[in-house]
Amino acid sequence: MKPEPSIIPRPATERYPGGEIRWTPAEKGSVFAGPGCRSVAALAAALLSRAPGRDWPAVDDPRGAFLRFELDASDGAYADEGYGLVVDADGVRCRARSAAGLFNALQSLRQLLPPAIETAGGLSSGFSLPFATVEDSPRFSWRGFMLDEARHFHGLETVKALLDLMALYKLNVFHWHLNDDQGWRLESRRYPELTRVGSKRRDTVIGGFGAAALAGISYQGSYTQDEAREIVRYAAERHITVVPEFELPGHASAALAAYPELGCTGGPYAVRIGPGIFKDIYCAGKDATLSFIDGVLDELCDIFPSAYIHLGGDEAPKDRWRACPACRARIEREGLSGEDALQAWLFNRAAERLAARGRRAIGWNEALNPALRPDAAAQFWRGGKAVMRRHLRGGRSFIMSDFWRAYLDYDYCLHPLKKAYAYEPVPAGLPEANVLGVESPLWTEWVADRSRLDWQTFPRLLAGAETAWTRRDRKDYRRFESRLVEHLPRLDALGVRYAPRAEWNPPPPIRAVKNACFLVRMATNLRRRAE
Ligand code: ACM
Ligand code: ZN
Repeated sequence: MKPEPSIIPRPATERYPGGEIRWTPAEKGSVFAGPGCRSVAALAAALLSRAPGRDWPAVDDPRGAFLRFELDASDGAYADEGYGLVVDADGVRCRARSAAGLFNALQSLRQLLPPAIETAGGLSSGFSLPFATVEDSPRFSWRGFMLDEARHFHGLETVKALLDLMALYKLNVFHWHLNDDQGWRLESRRYPELTRVGSKRRDTVIGGFGAAALAGISYQGSYTQDEAREIVRYAAERHITVVPEFELPGHASAALAAYPELGCTGGPYAVRIGPGIFKDIYCAGKDATLSFIDGVLDELCDIFPSAYIHLGGDEAPKDRWRACPACRARIEREGLSGEDALQAWLFNRAAERLAARGRRAIGWNEALNPALRPDAAAQFWRGGKAVMRRHLRGGRSFIMSDFWRAYLDYDYCLHPLKKAYAYEPVPAGLPEANVLGVESPLWTEWVADRSRLDWQTFPRLLAGAETAWTRRDRKDYRRFESRLVEHLPRLDALGVRYAPRAEWNPPPPIRAVKNACFLVRMATNLRRRAE
């Protein structure tokens, strides 16, 4: 018996009554696009046109159309991004209240089609579709993936490929980490030294996690503003919002190397080669820093239309601020209680600049402070659980990215697939309404190329996608794993070099030994960095 179709993330309700509809290239194909449905119909036509010599014209008459898209905005018919999908002897019908919902319906339809649909010419002999009735909507509105391109620059083609894969799994936020100690990756017209100096490092670390070997060659990469706009457009066509991150006040070495006057000591500073948490951060006392932050934020707002801009806020040691006369004077002048309050003051000032452009700020949870603007969202990753709970209960919006569950940058011994899948992002007893959603970050200190990136990300990102989309009572690891195994030929067809099944959940003794080695290496690394 054929296994049930496997749509990932698992829909809210799905029925497969048996039977299938067959389409062969000898038949004409057509797509009916109701009012407002042209763009999704065009995407569907492009997908189905992979059968050579066939195109799928959009027609105005639903009768006889193989595939029909219609919007239905009547009260209660569909949730915002939800949809209905029916496959029966009459063909395929997709209905939703929004274009995003129809796009999600198309992604489910795509997963009902044979994996050969993913390759050019793959459908040369036609296809069958199982009869299906799917009614679906997401649990969370924020379903994110974060890519760090400061530590390693992956480039336009990889980012587009990742956006395609995000769309397939109904992920809708691409959090783009574009600057850090090891590189500044986005052109600034006001501050050209950011990429001229800040996008290059003298050398780069090679080898696996925790390795100290150097390549012996310099490393660089950056996007022009036009390229970033191309990514924003490409993402928007897939109903994905790009949220850029401008790290403040720490992880600033690349920017300080370019503009040393923005640091407390005045430098000189270097773009960092290896990973770490560095003491040189932006000087919050100098007015030059404030106008730099405003200038960068204005440019980001011009390029990225996202409702949120990420302001970082994690891992910012205060050693320099404590010793800096300008920072001390700012604390005094503003009547602040100390360095943590100064960080909140700096964050709020940047958030106000964003608010003037109709945008909201997000900060990593270390930025949480009683003085933080209530409309700023927080992204929880680790530590400070009591503080997180207090802010969440108090009404602050959160994105959940627990290090032990959602992070993609460690191996499967530390973060097995099963553990990633088990992530419940809403802390017990706290209001779900304040959790915007879930995000899976990929930090790339040790991820230098696409094949490593694929291995880290897949299939764990699919677990993250299911946590973000599927209601809690519909999640079940055993079923997920068997659906995933059915799904792998599609990732093969897409050329994704995912981690093989044997590596998803290493046996406990292997995990224990490898994790002990890992923790020793991490501690050695931290010591080395502190020296
Ligand atoms: C982080 O992983 N430093 C947010
Ligand atoms: Zn200072």
